[in-house]
Amino acid sequence: MIIGILNGPNLNLLGTREPHIYGSATLDDINAGLAQVAAELGVELQTAQSNVEGTMIDILHAWRGAVQGVVVNAGAYTHTSLALRDAFTATSIPFVEIHLSNVYAREPERHHSMLASAAIGSVTGLGAEGYEFALRGLVSALRRNA
Ligand code: DQA
Repeated sequence: MIIGILNGPNLNLLGTREPHIYGSATLDDINAGLAQVAAELGVELQTAQSNVEGTMIDILHAWRGAVQGVVVNAGAYTHTSLALRDAFTATSIPFVEIHLSNVYAREPERHHSMLASAAIGSVTGLGAEGYEFALRGLVSALRRNA
């Protein structure tokens, strides 16, 4: 099983970006932790990050048929991008949404996710470890439904 890990805008700056909100782990740290969990679960990972909405959509198109599921932190596009949700539904790629911060405890404009209605589930507010919970949850759900 191959799982895509897709990160959106500004997440390349993790580690130095508002660490009081997003923590001190870099995206490389997060992907290294995910690689360990993937090895434990016996799955392969493909990782990608883009600051560009259309590039994220192109990545999902390229992953159609190549990955069995995606863990996605779409950053601020979470709250705005119907196009990204359409890319998930158009490619039929099952996904779990993850946010480092608890978006529901932040500004009102972060309370709505354009992606959530199409997701298997969401992890929010649990920091970098949330990515690992999201990966475990996604793989469990995919194996359950296989
Ligand atoms: C985020 C939350 C979003 O509201 C924000 O725009 C991000 C990061 C998170 O991981 O907590 O870029 O997705």
